[in-house]
Amino acid sequence: MAAINGAPKSKATTYAARLKTGRALALDVWSIFNQANLPADCINLGQGYMNFPPPQWVTDAASEALSTVAANHYSHPRGRVRLREAIKNYYEPLLARPLDPNSEILVSSGANEGQYSVFTAFLNPGDEVIMFEPFFDQYLPSVTFNGGTPVYVPLHPPPAAQAKTTSNDWTIDFDELRRSITPRCKMIILNTPHNPVGKVFTRTELEGIAALAEEFDLMVMSDEVYESLVFDGKEHVRFATLPRMWERTVTVGSAGKMFAATGWRVGWLIGPESIIGPTLAAQTRIVFCTNSPLQEAAAAGLEQAAARNYFATEVADYAERRQIIVDAFDSLGLKYTLPEGTYFILLDISDFDLPEGYPYPETVAGRGRDFKFGWVMAQEVGVSAIPVSEFYCEEHGNIGEKFIRFAFCKDVGTLRQAAVKLAGLKKLLKKNRA
Ligand SMILES: Cc1ncc(COP(=O)(O)O)c(C=O)c1O
Repeated sequence: MAAINGAPKSKATTYAARLKTGRALALDVWSIFNQANLPADCINLGQGYMNFPPPQWVTDAASEALSTVAANHYSHPRGRVRLREAIKNYYEPLLARPLDPNSEILVSSGANEGQYSVFTAFLNPGDEVIMFEPFFDQYLPSVTFNGGTPVYVPLHPPPAAQAKTTSNDWTIDFDELRRSITPRCKMIILNTPHNPVGKVFTRTELEGIAALAEEFDLMVMSDEVYESLVFDGKEHVRFATLPRMWERTVTVGSAGKMFAATGWRVGWLIGPESIIGPTLAAQTRIVFCTNSPLQEAAAAGLEQAAARNYFATEVADYAERRQIIVDAFDSLGLKYTLPEGTYFILLDISDFDLPEGYPYPETVAGRGRDFKFGWVMAQEVGVSAIPVSEFYCEEHGNIGEKFIRFAFCKDVGTLRQAAVKLAGLKKLLKKNRA
């Protein structure tokens, strides 16, 4: 995706210094573990996109919108009235407060662009932004392009000896978090449910973050794009509902995640006018407005979800998908992090050997153990996953290197085929593993 070929030849084509920040020019993991570089029959459980369509009643709403005149033209920069009304009606009970669709809701071109616009609106050069590792990779360039300085705070995995692990066992060291807050700190990015760990932060953990946000007067970007994917009856606590947090929190949502429509690029931000207003000013200059017909479709999705029992059905479907991968891992006695939310699952790869003298491509040879394992697995087992060190800063990469991430947002048939292939992991297991 990123890497630019050839050095700039003149002032005219010398690119901006910001492109050298935030790993924007590094060859990214998605390009390395790309279908084109992997064996033709390799099953791709790497990138988190679905291989099934959105629900028919949502795509029908998209078609309907396309056949109207208005929905083929510019929308209001805040988002279409129908979608803002739908967001208001859907979230008011969840956030336990009235929402003003004219000042507290902003539709964006995917969650990603909404987040970028918040950074544009609120970061001054040198402002620090805390992100918990592993972090969604887009945060990093979005922060640095806007002059921010990332500050990394790792989530700590459970001890290697622990046999059964859930995402709840990945924890924040609150002393470490406190120490990472300097006078330049402006914002904390929180992501619950968390990509790639699958962690659904507990109320106690969120209260700990809230106390620090209040003490140091920080904004909190609460990325809740996986809000509808929480398993086993676990509670998804919305950060903005904690006492006194509404005023300093922007909540991030995504129609792409909710309705299996990641290519639509429709997301939203919810927060007080003091956050949404400046963000609207930034976003209007970045994209002006979000694509119109798919806003109508997202609105239909939110409007009809309850009557169709859509989200409960979706969670049950994802729980079934998760179970297929879990069963495949259990049948080999592998260590993994059982996710309480999202569609990602981390496999602990410390029980595997890397074959000696394996012919790695240049893009993988100099990288961590997880890159190498991911490569061998794709070639020898026929399933691809994503190395987790990519979601860490260099200093903490050794934590991520012990894991690879599988995305189970695929149809059951594909996951069953993957499970059969994953039995082939046996041949890579250490002979004398504990
Ligand atoms: C944690 C997290 N936040 C934001 C996004 C971006 O969402 P969207 O596709 O709506 O831009 C993703 C997508 O993978 C994600 O994992």
